[in-house]
Amino acid sequence: MATQPKPGREGPRRILVLHGPSLNLLGTREPSIYGAATLDEINARLTARAEAEGAVLVSFQSNAEAALIDRVQQAAGDGTQFIIINPAAFTHTSVALRDALAAVKLPFIEVHLSNVFAREAFRHHSYFTALAVGMICGLGARGYELALEYALGDRALGATNRS
Ligand code: DQA
Repeated sequence: MATQPKPGREGPRRILVLHGPSLNLLGTREPSIYGAATLDEINARLTARAEAEGAVLVSFQSNAEAALIDRVQQAAGDGTQFIIINPAAFTHTSVALRDALAAVKLPFIEVHLSNVFAREAFRHHSYFTALAVGMICGLGARGYELALEYALGDRALGATNRS
């Protein structure tokens, strides 16, 4: 029998997962830092978990800052209620992507596979954390899954972020 979507405020919960530059290379990209799972494997696990809860999960990866900004802006009008984002290197550089998240006022969790604070100093600063509901780092792909559990259980879905 097909899983019935759990009713949210207006239909199923809609969660967007955004992946920044070079995360398309997961599986072969520095696996000692980022793990062995591919992005397709990570997305498939997240999608299955969301579907089991009757939620709709959409994932999007781009190496381009503009494409990620466009996708965030699109989220404001497509019913997205929560964003999980690994901005990758844009974490440390992109005021523009941060401003897009501030503009749409959707709650989001920032995820990093690696423990950015145990790495080079330039990775210690994030333009996103102060706006985020929370930040998870250092737990590998499990970090996305924990962020998703929060998004699925968050009674405040639809609340604004901290901007
Ligand atoms: C990363 C950490 C960033 O510093 C780096 O640029 C990435 C991945 C992580 O998931 O650990 O590309 O966001």
